[in-house]
Amino acid sequence: MRIDLTEAIKRLSAGEVVGVPTETVYGLAASLSKQAAIQQIFSLKGRPANNPLIIHIADTSQLYPFVNNFPEGFEQLSKAFWPGPLTLILPIKPNIIFPIVTANLPTAGFRIPNHPLTKQLIKAIGPLVMPSANLSGRPSATLPEHVEDDFGADFPVLDGGACTKGLESTILAFNEDAWSILRQGSLAPEDFTPILGYSPEVIIAKKGELPQCPGQLFRHYAPKAKLILGDFSKVKEADHFIGFTERKYPEGKKIHLLGSLSNPHEVAGNLYKVLRQLDEENAKTAWVDMDFPSEGLWQTIAERLNKAGSV
Ligand code: TXA
Ligand code: MG
Repeated sequence: MRIDLTEAIKRLSAGEVVGVPTETVYGLAASLSKQAAIQQIFSLKGRPANNPLIIHIADTSQLYPFVNNFPEGFEQLSKAFWPGPLTLILPIKPNIIFPIVTANLPTAGFRIPNHPLTKQLIKAIGPLVMPSANLSGRPSATLPEHVEDDFGADFPVLDGGACTKGLESTILAFNEDAWSILRQGSLAPEDFTPILGYSPEVIIAKKGELPQCPGQLFRHYAPKAKLILGDFSKVKEADHFIGFTERKYPEGKKIHLLGSLSNPHEVAGNLYKVLRQLDEENAKTAWVDMDFPSEGLWQTIAERLNKAGSV
């Protein structure tokens, strides 16, 4: 159910959960001051309690009540990328944020989203917690109808149209003496080089090890269909194909085009929509063309497809 800004403000102030657009993906929002609504986010999504939420703010002054100290490079990063698709993990003061938000960690993730409606919403309500607005494990939502598909036609969604980025924020944390990437996202490692003087290392938790970013523990972004990632020997098994506009794929299969090989932003913008289309069309098995470049945003696209295809 589509609602406007006034209605979204009314509902969030009353302690309800509302679907909210951002430039990355749609979020499932509750006011940071409404504990029952925050609890409801976890039950709506089927999200484990040990997976913390990102706090969305409208400007950096909203950090001061919560943040204990600002690691070196914070100023430069926030100036360069906020508002935008960057989440920074920062140490927080004790007993100031509901532990349910942070899963009891001594840190919290913060982001200033870049969407005109969401900025106004946060200015009116104060900080909002928002995980991506999808059932846990499913592809994220980049259109208001995706949120309705997961949470029902009557679920309130502030309609902000299609998300311009289409992939989640990049999550950075400061470890000892450098920033590292805990979750790949809309900003590529090399995007940080002009600001930090280095490209942050992408941290990938080893099997059996607890990841620094708890969300990395779980299966993610997955359609119901089985994905075959680039393995030609299994091409015949697939009834659907996911690929790129400049390539030719076998006739007789349902083809889903992500966009052009020369435009990773277009591909990122279509990725979750295409993964969700597979389910709408009851696809059993989809073959994915993984022969694409390996730099910049393509790294996040590859990571999401690998996660979506992992069983
Ligand atoms: O683009 C985005 O970041 C979207 C939009 C709605 O802002 N939000 C989003 O939230 O992707 P979610 O909940 O789907 O993913 C948040 C990730 C999870 O993997 C969680 O474990 C991690 O952030 N996270 C949150 N707080 C953390 C913390 N204190 N330390 C480490 N990881 C944290
Ligand atoms: Mg998510």
